[in-house]
Amino acid sequence: MKVDELRSKYIEFFKCKDHVQIQGKSLFPDNDPTVLFTTAGMHPLVPYLLGEAHPEGRRLTDYQKCIRTGDIDAVGDPGHLTFFEMLGNWSLGDYFKEEAIAMSFEFLTAPQWLGLPLEKIGVTVFEGDAAVPRDEESAAIWKRLGIPADRISFRPRADNWWGPAGLSGPCGPDTEMFIDMGQNPCGPNCAPGCSCGKWLEIWNDVFMQYNKTPDGVYEPLARKCVDTGMGIERTVTILNGKKSVYDTEVFEPIIRGIEAISGACRYGEDPEKDRSLRIIADHIRAGTFILGDPKAVSPSNGGAGYVLRRLIRRAVRHGRKLGVSGTLLSPIARIIIAQMQGAYPELTENASRILIDLDQEERKFMETLQKGEQEFEKLLPNLLKDPGKIISGRLAFKLYDTYGFPIELTEELAMEQGMTVNRLEFEEAFKKHQDLSRAGSEQLFKGGLADQGERSVKYHTATHLLHKALRMVLGDHAAQKGSNITADRMRFDFSHPAPMTEEEINLVQAIVNEQIQRDLPVSLEIMSLEDAKAAGAIALFGEKYESQVKVYSIGDFSKEVCGGPHVERTGDLGIFSIQKEQSSSAGIRRIRAVLK
Ligand code: ALA
Repeated sequence: MKVDELRSKYIEFFKCKDHVQIQGKSLFPDNDPTVLFTTAGMHPLVPYLLGEAHPEGRRLTDYQKCIRTGDIDAVGDPGHLTFFEMLGNWSLGDYFKEEAIAMSFEFLTAPQWLGLPLEKIGVTVFEGDAAVPRDEESAAIWKRLGIPADRISFRPRADNWWGPAGLSGPCGPDTEMFIDMGQNPCGPNCAPGCSCGKWLEIWNDVFMQYNKTPDGVYEPLARKCVDTGMGIERTVTILNGKKSVYDTEVFEPIIRGIEAISGACRYGEDPEKDRSLRIIADHIRAGTFILGDPKAVSPSNGGAGYVLRRLIRRAVRHGRKLGVSGTLLSPIARIIIAQMQGAYPELTENASRILIDLDQEERKFMETLQKGEQEFEKLLPNLLKDPGKIISGRLAFKLYDTYGFPIELTEELAMEQGMTVNRLEFEEAFKKHQDLSRAGSEQLFKGGLADQGERSVKYHTATHLLHKALRMVLGDHAAQKGSNITADRMRFDFSHPAPMTEEEINLVQAIVNEQIQRDLPVSLEIMSLEDAKAAGAIALFGEKYESQVKVYSIGDFSKEVCGGPHVERTGDLGIFSIQKEQSSSAGIRRIRAVLK
């Protein structure tokens, strides 16, 4: 069965069951500042799952594009993806367990729908804990439908609880459906839900009964809901008797395209190359959808733009491993656009943006790589003097942090010279830098924290501009005493003995806006704290710093010791507007400002 057919069958089935088809939404959630991407079909429906009335009624169905970056490191194995499509059906206070499970069962097994053999299906249900009882009800429903007890596995919260999608929101116990991939059980306890590879999850019915509040309290929902999600790529894998999502029609043309560009490389011949092929295919697909979204972001150093940058750079890097020397990303994106435009017309509408941004970022990164290589060449004579032929992790980290030169490439270059890199030391330096920046980029890539969002990053850069402007207008005593940023506003506390006059406020605001208009580049250097101070960087008094610090310069205007992240150019900020200047405590003033 083809993907298009699966999509339409699913929607048709649920329409037959009185569901209304709704439009899938953007990859960037509107109502959840705690995540970077839409991670599930339910994400855009959060307000309705919490009780708001949906204009289309209480039974809904759709297909939704999703991105999950949590598994990024696993991409490359046969089953993991960052971008995927999810089919879903919802009951907003309408049916609950009995009907939801019966419909899932019918769609999976009835010959006119998916027609999967009953003996291949296994399920998991929630085993219960102190807060929520064991889900005997779902187990009994599955049994009645014909799933034998040995293929109904009770699992803990870690496995059979879903949500919330972000830090707070609707959630509840779930029952998950698995397909037996045919291999032998890994041991006596191998049952549906086991991660050995025998059981592949394809669908999840969540019984939304709680709202997790930002304080971590589980409040019962007044109206119980059902949220289900079926992964398209995985289901198509099963339906076509394939072992891997990458062996299906979803990836076949993409992988053929990469093979052609690489020249000699063929999928299925060498496990290491297969891994690279899969990473490239997955990452370009995710990048194409991020850039093809109506609310697209460009590659940048913060938030979703940073994830995009990482995806692109990783794809480029693996392309080089396969021997690609020319442009890789945009030709592959063309294949993806052609393949997916039927279900996602926005890809055609935004095609030029997708292709241009991919090309630009690829070129930029190639330049970075060249610079890193040159730098390495320069260092080489000295490096070769090391009797153990070991390159220090500190140096590898410097190449990474200053030139964006990935550790794997340093290792590759080292290997060519018969040398190795002290990886442990590199990891330590990396970890220190993460702690230093608190907003460690790797962490951001994985989790997507609230204060890492694109808006917050803009406010962060605006904070530096404001800090400098205040010092210019009021004097150097106007030092930062605190700051608090959300996606919607910034608050900045600084030392100053008296209320600011209206002229002072207007002047500070004008200075900040002038720097925004100048579209100044924001750049990062690593140096010792002494060098930073000698270079005139502002460092917060009383803060603890590591011996090596990150210094962010905004053009010729400001220089501050800071963990980042920041925007690439001030032109991205919009218009800076001071809303209020007030007292915070004795000798400390507070400014509230917004970017419009
Ligand atoms: N929201 C549920 C999931 O993503 C259905 O698994």
